[in-house]
Amino acid sequence: MIGRLNHVAIAVPDLASASALYRGALGAKVSVPQALPEHGVTVVFITLPNTKIELLEPLGEASPIAAFLAKNPSGGMHHMCYEVDDIVAARDHLVASGARALGEPKIGAHSKLVIFLHPKDFNGVLVELEQK
Ligand code: CO
Repeated sequence: MIGRLNHVAIAVPDLASASALYRGALGAKVSVPQALPEHGVTVVFITLPNTKIELLEPLGEASPIAAFLAKNPSGGMHHMCYEVDDIVAARDHLVASGARALGEPKIGAHSKLVIFLHPKDFNGVLVELEQK
């Protein structure tokens, strides 16, 4: 069921300086920032030959990454995103297997449906599924 690794997401306290680090020191191709108010984050994507890196900065008062950054002030690995063919079928299969879905599928940064799964059900890693 699980497909390609779509991206690894890193929460950062300062998107501009994190983008400059990847663009400059690491020589990577970095997208323009994209505000996602419904997800409470501003994101940039870094395209690597085999996957992407997503840098996340809090947006708004109720950002879901604010608490994470309070615990990890310099940032840290936040989630992994795997591609699936059918997000509702994947969610239903995982819930039947005992995993907890966090909310309902909604439109994510690539204008595709995404859903998050509880990190306690995946060895401490927050998992995002994205429909291909
Ligand atoms: Co993501």
